[in-house]
Amino acid sequence: MLNKELSHFSESSKSGNQISEYICSTFLDKQQEFDLPSLRIDENEIAAQQAQQRSRSPRGVGGPPMSQISGVKRPLSHTNSFTGERLPTFGVETPHENALGTYLGEIDTWGIDIFKIGDLSLSRPLTCVAFTVFQSRDLLNALMIPPKTFITFMATLEDHYVKDNPFHNSLHAADVAQSTNVLLNTPALEGVFTPLEVGGALFAACIHDVDHPGLTNQFLINSSSELALMYNDESVLENHHLAVAFKLLQNAGCDIFCNIQKKQRQTLRKMVIDIVLSTDMSKHMSLLADLKTMVETKKVAGSGVLLLDNYTDRIQVLENLVHCADLSNPTKPLPLYKRWISLLMEEFFQQGDKEREMGLDISPMCDRHNATIEKSQVGFIDYIVHPLWETWADLVHPDAQDILDTLEENRDYYQSMIPPSPPTGDDEGDDRIRFQVTLEESDNEGDQDDKDDGKPSESQSHSHPTGM
Ligand code: CMP
Ligand code: MG
Ligand code: ZN
Repeated sequence: MLNKELSHFSESSKSGNQISEYICSTFLDKQQEFDLPSLRIDENEIAAQQAQQRSRSPRGVGGPPMSQISGVKRPLSHTNSFTGERLPTFGVETPHENALGTYLGEIDTWGIDIFKIGDLSLSRPLTCVAFTVFQSRDLLNALMIPPKTFITFMATLEDHYVKDNPFHNSLHAADVAQSTNVLLNTPALEGVFTPLEVGGALFAACIHDVDHPGLTNQFLINSSSELALMYNDESVLENHHLAVAFKLLQNAGCDIFCNIQKKQRQTLRKMVIDIVLSTDMSKHMSLLADLKTMVETKKVAGSGVLLLDNYTDRIQVLENLVHCADLSNPTKPLPLYKRWISLLMEEFFQQGDKEREMGLDISPMCDRHNATIEKSQVGFIDYIVHPLWETWADLVHPDAQDILDTLEENRDYYQSMIPPSPPTGDDEGDDRIRFQVTLEESDNEGDQDDKDDGKPSESQSHSHPTGM
């Protein structure tokens, strides 16, 4: 109502526009502000403000200025820019182009061999997956992205993933981007999202862990790291991934969104921020609770596809979709899942080694001398991954049935692999489920009916944060 009033007001006169802007910027929260389609931001005013800020140039309290984003490398003009006429077919220079093409031909398949794509692309899986997906969806045309700019940006982004991380490197980003691509193809969402939304979700997947240091939010907070200081302990990593990625867009020849309208750019930025912030695991419970509510009140159009008629619903689906892709390794064919687990465990163990050295408590799942991988995976699936995927599968029923089946088979495999506990029988601690997520108090707690289906519900897992 207020929005309607204000947009009418802003159209009526210049001063009305100023007043509505004042009201929007001062009294509406960001979401409401975003919902006002007719408000325009004065470019001259922004330029004047930026000039003012530059001239003030405040420096922080020692160390780098707070406006400096750590981890952003100085652009090197000779790397990642193609001088020749011909752009590589899959966006990467490799002697294995044909073989790479064969594997990338499966870009719309769940369980593609992303490890092989990593090898054949000479460790540039993100660039070639992103280029293939954007091309196959005709997004370069729809969003007017010059192909060379796209490849330059993606290669630069890929360079900002930390190669030495066992798990959080560009292969994981490529995996999440490819999984997002497949989920966007789900029949229940056919024709639902605009090219800007599809491009936004895929872009978010590509950037979602950039410059990840291989350490968890909790570790960064506990060790009073620069990053935790910068973001006041709130979604520290996710804020950083976003800041690095948007900063990289400003590198020369990297702005893939240079040709879209300003309003579209703002919409895209807002969507990408919402999606990447939702990958913070501490938001998992509230994300899932909202998804369950959406399933309960699900609306479908005549053609059977989901009816999502406002920003809140549309972004909620995209947030959950990318979150599902981020939590998809347990739903992949077992050999792939096993490889992801060993990489993730090694990363956790390296954090544990650091914690030991620093005399900190060793985080759950991070102690290489005391690990119960199989049990942890069963717990992770039962309490986190299965409830999420089950709800997603309800939303897009029956599209995700095969994915859910694989998840259940993998869960049963790990259940069968749990080594028998030592026959002491008195150590309750041994049976505790420990995994590496921190859950936030959810506003929606209590809103949900607990289904009595023998599986843990989110409120049960929430009220028993054993080891979490
Ligand atoms: P990230 O990729 O930043 O976001 C999702 C998180 O889920 C991921 O980091 C890991 O911390 C966690 N995660 C993903 N897969 C697994 C798994 N198989 N076992 C335990 N934790 C996982
Ligand atoms: Mg992350
Ligand atoms: Zn991730």
